[in-house]
Amino acid sequence: MKLYKFLSGLFIAGLILNAQAKDQAIVIKFSHIAAPDTPKGKAAEHFKKLAEQYTKNKIKVEVYPNGKLIKDKDEMDALQKGDVQMLAPSLSKLAPLGIKEFEIFDMPYIFNDYKDLHGITRGQVGKDLFNRLEVKGILGLAYWDNAFKQMSANKPLRKPDDFKNLKMRIQSSKIIDLQMQSLGATPVVIPFIEVYKALQTKTVDGTENSISNFYTQNIHEVQKFLTLTNHGYLGYAVIANKKFWDKLPDDVKNDLTKAMTEATDFANDIAKKENDDALAKVKASGKTEIIELTAEEKAALKKAMITSHDKQDIIPKAFLRWWLCGDKC
Ligand code: LMR
Repeated sequence: MKLYKFLSGLFIAGLILNAQAKDQAIVIKFSHIAAPDTPKGKAAEHFKKLAEQYTKNKIKVEVYPNGKLIKDKDEMDALQKGDVQMLAPSLSKLAPLGIKEFEIFDMPYIFNDYKDLHGITRGQVGKDLFNRLEVKGILGLAYWDNAFKQMSANKPLRKPDDFKNLKMRIQSSKIIDLQMQSLGATPVVIPFIEVYKALQTKTVDGTENSISNFYTQNIHEVQKFLTLTNHGYLGYAVIANKKFWDKLPDDVKNDLTKAMTEATDFANDIAKKENDDALAKVKASGKTEIIELTAEEKAALKKAMITSHDKQDIIPKAFLRWWLCGDKC
């Protein structure tokens, strides 16, 4: 009986100690606006798992998907104030901080393929862009891919003329605005989590996005046609509140950096498959017709959309030249 009491006392003490240790864990609130079942949603969960494992629960990561905690437009403010410690906004959403060069990622047809893109995000340009965030109190941790974007509407979109007078939802980006105008469409900025409703109520006629976002936001229920244009890129910057990060003990910082490196490989490895799977699910739903363009149709859309490159005055021309050909021109 005595032994039983002793052991149960030990057990209870253990529980209390464990609870105290948990209470003392440093909490990272990681907010994002995509669904859990997307490349970004899955990678955020993967980072949580690794971060807690490597820090032996000294860190607790709370992931808030679907804009549940912070809405699109309030994300940066919340990060800078320290209401959340981590975010993974699309790259366009960093431009309003005053670092408009981030909108270069939105330029249609600026990347031929992932090799081109990763040359930038994994190279000096990617680092330089992140360095510019630091004066804003933000630390750039990693670039995560989603995919190249596609266009949708309730009519087939094959040629520039098909876009005329359509109201197209965009995320806030002057470059994407110009891109839609170059097709004769009217761009309308709408927060991501309101896109389904906006399409359903015909506030807008169409949209562009990655197929994983298209499927997980149920856009296939309210759009009859999805054209595989691959005209522009959608990717993310994983960012942290710099003051918060700098104050972390060195061993924790190292563990988190390791977790982030692995989560980034994971994110970029699954992105293509997640989007391929989403395309298969859209097809299987039978609700949205998938349009594959001929080479001529692709060329005509490209010709129209790249006129936005010349019209833009957001990205300094010298930066654009450096971006496109580095030291070679
Ligand atoms: C959007 O607004 O379309 C994107 O930023 C959504 C996302 O994947 O974060």
